[in-house]
Amino acid sequence: MKITIAVVLLSLLCTGRVSCRRNIHEDFIELPSESSKFFHAGDDIADDSVGTRWAVLIAGSNGYWNYRHQADVCHAYQLLKKGGLKDENIIVFMYDDIAFNIENPRPGIIINSPNGADVYDGVPKDYTGEDVTVNNFFAAILGNKTALTGGSGKVVDSGPNDHIFIYYTDHGGPGVLGMPTSPYLYADDLIDVLKQKHASRTYKRLVFYLEACESGSIFEGLLPEGLNIYATTASNAEESSWGTYCPGEYPSPPPEYETCLGDLYSVAWMEDSDVHNLQTESLHQQYELVKSRTANENSAYGSHVMQYGDIGQSKESLFLYMGTNPANDNYSFVDENSLRPSSKAVNQRDADLLHFWDKFRKAPEGSSRKVEAQKQFVEVMSHRMHIDQSMKLIGKLLFGITRGSEVLSTVRPAGQPLVDDWKCLKSLVRTFESHCGSLSQYGMKHMRSLANFCNAGIKTEHMAEASAQACPNIPPGAWSSLHRGFSA
Ligand SMILES: *[C@@H]1O[C@H](CO)[C@@H](O)[C@H](O)[C@H]1NC(C)=O
Ligand SMILES: *[C@@H]1O[C@H](CO)[C@@H](O)[C@H](O)[C@H]1NC(C)=O
Repeated sequence: MKITIAVVLLSLLCTGRVSCRRNIHEDFIELPSESSKFFHAGDDIADDSVGTRWAVLIAGSNGYWNYRHQADVCHAYQLLKKGGLKDENIIVFMYDDIAFNIENPRPGIIINSPNGADVYDGVPKDYTGEDVTVNNFFAAILGNKTALTGGSGKVVDSGPNDHIFIYYTDHGGPGVLGMPTSPYLYADDLIDVLKQKHASRTYKRLVFYLEACESGSIFEGLLPEGLNIYATTASNAEESSWGTYCPGEYPSPPPEYETCLGDLYSVAWMEDSDVHNLQTESLHQQYELVKSRTANENSAYGSHVMQYGDIGQSKESLFLYMGTNPANDNYSFVDENSLRPSSKAVNQRDADLLHFWDKFRKAPEGSSRKVEAQKQFVEVMSHRMHIDQSMKLIGKLLFGITRGSEVLSTVRPAGQPLVDDWKCLKSLVRTFESHCGSLSQYGMKHMRSLANFCNAGIKTEHMAEASAQACPNIPPGAWSSLHRGFSA
């Protein structure tokens, strides 16, 4: 695989038209994940017992190549709205750079499946652009208006009988979730916020649906029982999650879309909720269905949907959290119901490459669009290689040639948290980034290596020395953390 990408890179870098021709006219791209084992991996509806239903929906990314995350969030809003939740109780975090993006073939419209209707219409813009921050997300959950910066000011102003649904979708890495702003969201801080919310006695039960790579690591060994929180994640602690409805798949997006429209776990739960009477479907039934659709047994892609926290809570109906669309009253959930599986999916981490590649492939020969797509593809690939190589070298500098690679790739047994000292992890992230540049959405995958450094007793000073040696020059422009801020 590495070889395929290298060939593609060479072909993009070369200038002689003749020698390039063969590769650039190929109709497909083999992505880094495909052969690397590393990656496989309201009140009118509410009666007293339900209280008010609240929802916090958040897309952690920006950029047209991440179209799918904001599409997921818009879809979730439509679903909850049809279920009877009120706008005043649905808090939406999305960067909002998709609907009117110059790359969007249908301006002002966002779709989340190939034949899907517009999901953008009517979505409340509570926190958009630079207001999509970890701080605002936490303040919204906690109902703390004074902690907000910018945005609509809407927060989960909940009481003891209320039900809360939180849905996050984006890139992630071990122990971390992406944000379109810096810093990123770390598992220990999220768990701390959930504990504070519980201690404030301002909900009856809470459900958290989480889509991201290595999303299991956010709760694994960290989310205790007894908080009345039930969480499911798109993947376990050590595997990627997957984009779906991507160019080249079946079903494929309409041909004018050069980007994935949704994410596998996310569309699985939403397309299920869309069509059923949610009074008759339990969280557990949905978990089972989403798990089988997301796993896609017998194929090279897919991930293990996991559940954490108070699992007993999953016998409750989805209605308590999502309400139900009256149009579905006659459509009860039945176990053999199976939504259409897709033929293929794209590793979250490769979906940006797929976008640049598809853009490059379709752009007219000699156009400035083709040149631009080529430049974007090469830049992303080069930064990936730089981050991968720097991390490898730092591992060797700190632990020696043989032990280095072992420390870099060690995975703690299931049930254990990623790292014991989260302050150390955040400090090593900043140290790495100040010398080697932004981890960026791709580089979040190295969070486990940095966690292992901490678990092995590496201090910030050691890390600074090794990083300075590995990265004598800070990468320029967008890739410098000096420019975009640190991820921790
Ligand atoms: C709300 O946030 C502010 C600012 O961060 C903080 O000082 C205050 O203690 C918080 N209030 C509660 C009830 O947590
Ligand atoms: C459900 O079925 C009943 C009985 O056939 C019918 O009267 C009702 O209109 C249907 N409801 C919906 C929402 O289709």
